[in-house]
Amino acid sequence: MIRNPQSLKNLIDSKLEEQSYGDSPVELYEPIRYIMDLGGKRLRPLLTLLSYQLYEEDAAEVLEEALSIELFHNFTLVHDDIMDNAPLRRGQQTVHEKWNDNVAILSGDVMLVRAYDFLLHNRPDNAVEIVKRFNQTAAEVCEGQQFDMNFETRKDVTEEEYLEMIRLKTAVLLGLALELGAMLANAGEEDIDHLRKMGECAGLGFQLKDDLLDVFADDEKFGKQVGGDIIARKKTFLTIRALQLAKGKDKKELESLYSEDSKINPEERVKRVTELYQKYGIRELTEEKMNDYFDQAFFHLKKVNTPLNRKAILRGFTEALIDRES
Ligand code: IPE
Ligand code: IPE
Ligand code: MG
Ligand code: MG
Ligand code: MG
Repeated sequence: MIRNPQSLKNLIDSKLEEQSYGDSPVELYEPIRYIMDLGGKRLRPLLTLLSYQLYEEDAAEVLEEALSIELFHNFTLVHDDIMDNAPLRRGQQTVHEKWNDNVAILSGDVMLVRAYDFLLHNRPDNAVEIVKRFNQTAAEVCEGQQFDMNFETRKDVTEEEYLEMIRLKTAVLLGLALELGAMLANAGEEDIDHLRKMGECAGLGFQLKDDLLDVFADDEKFGKQVGGDIIARKKTFLTIRALQLAKGKDKKELESLYSEDSKINPEERVKRVTELYQKYGIRELTEEKMNDYFDQAFFHLKKVNTPLNRKAILRGFTEALIDRES
C-alpha cells in the first residue's frame, strides 16, 4: 500500500512513541525522551520512506532505518543548541537550558549510538555500504558545523564559502535521507545518485529558508528564537548579501552591528539588522536563491526512473517545504 506523507508521519510518530532509549541514569535518558517527544516535522525520515516508496509498496519495512536519520538529526540539534546558545527548540526549552551543557553533550552522544542501533536493526543486505555513507555524511555535518562556528568571528565570509558550509551542515543529510531509501530498495546507481542530488539541492533551499525564518518568522509558529542568528553573528546568505549591497553609512552600521565589540544590546541589534535587510530587499533575493535550489531538486527528480504517480508524492511533499512557516 502506497501511503501519503501524513500517514507516513503517523507511522514515524507512533514508532518513536513506543521506543525506549534506556532508563538509568535518568539524567542521561530523560532528555532523549524529551527532545524526541517535542515532535518536529520528521522531514528526514519522511524523505527516506518516500524515496523507498518510489520502488516498493510497504514503507513500514524500512521504518527503523528511516528513524536512524531522525535520531542522528536530533542528536545534532541538541549539540547545535549548545553551540548556538539557543534557548528554544520546537517551542520549548532546549535540552541544555532545561538541564545543563554536560547533560546535553552526553545525551546527544548516546542518541548518536542509538541511531546506529536503528540503522542496523533489520540487518539490510548492503549494511556495510550503508554505514559507510552514513559515516561520511555524519563527518560532513560536523565539518559544516565547525565552519558555521568559525564564520561567526569572520567578517569576510564569501557566498561560496557560505553555500559550502550549509551544504555540509544541512544539505548532505537530506541527500542521505533520499539516497538511503533508494539503497534499501536496491534501486539502480543512477537513480540513487539523482535522489541524493535531489536531497542536497532541496537541503540547500531548506537551509536558506531556515535562515530566512530565523529573521522573518512569526514568533508563535517558529518554535525557535527569532533573531537568534543575528544575535550569534551568524554569517548567513542574508548577512553576506546585505554587506555586498549596503553602501556608505548603512554598510558601516551593518559592519558595526556585526562586530564583536558592538555596545548595542541584542534586541536592538536584531531590530536594526532586520530593518537594513528590508531596506535592501534581502528577503526577496534569498527567496530567489532558495527557489533556484528547489528547481534543481525537481530537475533531479525528473531524471529518476520510476512511475510518475509515485514521484508526484515526493514532489508535492518537497514543494511544501518552500512555503513552510516553521
Ligand atoms: C532544523 O531542522 C535544523 C536545520 C537543518 C535547519 P528542522 O527544521 O528539520 O527541525 P525539526 O526537526 O522539524 O524540528
Ligand atoms: C543547523 O543549523 C544545522 C545542524 C543542526 C546540523 P542551524 O543552527 O541554523 O539550525 P537551527 O536553526 O538551530 O535549527
Ligand atoms: Mg547552528
Ligand atoms: Mg542552531
Ligand atoms: Mg537556523
